[in-house]
Amino acid sequence: MSDHKVLDSPPLMLDVDTGVDDALAIALAIRSHANLVGVSTVAGNVSIDLATENSLRVLSWMGAESVPVHRGASRPLVVDYQDAAHVHGGNGLGGAELPVSGASESSNGGVDALLANAAQHDGELVLVALGPLTNVAIALSLRPALARQIRTLVIMGGAYFVPGNVTPHAEFNAFADPHACGQVLQAEWNEIIVVGLDVTHQTIISREQWEATPDDAPGAAGLLKRITGRTFNERKLDGFYLHDPLALAVAIHPELVEKEPHSISVDVHERRGKTTPAQGRGVSIATSVDAERFEAEFARRMGINSRRTDVGPASVE
Ligand code: RIB
Ligand code: CA
Repeated sequence: MSDHKVLDSPPLMLDVDTGVDDALAIALAIRSHANLVGVSTVAGNVSIDLATENSLRVLSWMGAESVPVHRGASRPLVVDYQDAAHVHGGNGLGGAELPVSGASESSNGGVDALLANAAQHDGELVLVALGPLTNVAIALSLRPALARQIRTLVIMGGAYFVPGNVTPHAEFNAFADPHACGQVLQAEWNEIIVVGLDVTHQTIISREQWEATPDDAPGAAGLLKRITGRTFNERKLDGFYLHDPLALAVAIHPELVEKEPHSISVDVHERRGKTTPAQGRGVSIATSVDAERFEAEFARRMGINSRRTDVGPASVE
């Protein structure tokens, strides 16, 4: 991935439920010089309070306090809220206490900010949704034309030809708000790319990379060291999936993945959150990924060692 100047990259907005991999995606966006016009938050991995506070602190840690953070939906459209604190730790950042940001959350809410940015950057905005799709679904119901106003929607979510990670059928973001996921995937977007477990389960950071990163590393490397410490230290895992960073990278460099056009249905009953591809077009499902290229670029941008690919990790989450 080449270095591109902020001036010639499209306006990009992140919708996040800042947990650990969302935080890494935010850091990667900053280190990739993305033209980040805003971050909206949604309840998912952690509560809306923590997702919003964590996003503020991560942006501040990365020297990007000027990027506005907009508080979004505090609960799914219909189902009860369920978090993923067992993966991300009680505070959503693996227990790491980052300094409080000097910035406060915007007075503009997440859905309003999404609608405002789509209108201000009419036809140009790239929206990257890294959590449950509650905000995107509400924005779509308020303005159906949003689907044509946004240039590209990239979603981290779903499991299309592979098992889920919350149930055998469902990936977390789709499971957390299956009604929102169904509404979003059935809208007629200019371009929508779904980055599911089919490809994100091929991209990780390893224990070796974490151990080789100094405890006092600054910037993105220091953020990664701190917020993934629980994964490698306490939970003794050998790897951590780069779900959200891969989706962000695909938004900047879509050539990282091969895609297939499908229509997708989302189960809201017995197999809640199951995302089933069917004949038809409309949604580009990422079916394969140049994992080596992505992982090498991620390591370069984050300032950590690249991963040895001759040995695969035994336990990953
Ligand atoms: O299933 C992985 C996804 O769910 C990631 O976006 C993670 O942050 C959680 O939101
Ligand atoms: Ca997420």
